[in-house]
Amino acid sequence: MRGLFITFEGIDGSGKTTQINHFEKYIADSGIDYIKTREPGGSKGAEEIRSLLVKGKTSRWSPETEILLFFASRRDHMEKTITPALEAGKIVICDRFTDSSRIYQGFTRSGAVSKVDELHNMMIDLEPNLTFILDIEPRLALKRGLARNTGEDRFEDFGEEFQKKARKGFLELSEKFPTRCKVINADRDPSKISKEIINQYENLIQV
Ligand code: TYD
Repeated sequence: MRGLFITFEGIDGSGKTTQINHFEKYIADSGIDYIKTREPGGSKGAEEIRSLLVKGKTSRWSPETEILLFFASRRDHMEKTITPALEAGKIVICDRFTDSSRIYQGFTRSGAVSKVDELHNMMIDLEPNLTFILDIEPRLALKRGLARNTGEDRFEDFGEEFQKKARKGFLELSEKFPTRCKVINADRDPSKISKEIINQYENLIQV
């Protein structure tokens, strides 16, 4: 595929949205053809599945059902949105992808990592070219996340211990995929964070 697939990851409230918007502006100003998309969601069907996942009680789904819903939405998103854009040579800027499932559905729950990896290999088999992991202390992040009160707080409602584990998982993931995953300290002035993100991106395209 000719395009570039760039994802943003991190625990809830890590400032991902702000940074994605900065990065999008930089790409748009460079005149590069791109799309911005998100998970869960990013296509009509996947957005419908999204509302099943992010709203309601934490106990709404068993871990297994939840994994299947995420992968159903991801498969639709990939078929309808991501793959066509990459084939057309575009940059795809995506808010979360399989790494979120590896952490939220896999790492935080015992025994589920291999289920996530197997489903990914079977049904998705696509990795980003570059992944920014926005790293922040969960207490600070949780404060920001819940303050938004969007009605899509099901994962924030799992609480601070869950987010602490998720943070640890993201850091371990960056060690597993050191070339693709760049850990960004997200507890800084947003303009400094976005400069670092752009530098990392420029390093990638120069190679
Ligand atoms: P998102 O809209 O990115 O929320 P936020 O902007 O607060 O980070 O994601 C919604 C929630 O879905 C988020 O709490 C993380 C969770 N999630 C998973 O648990 N697994 C996944 O595979 C994805 C893509 C998201």
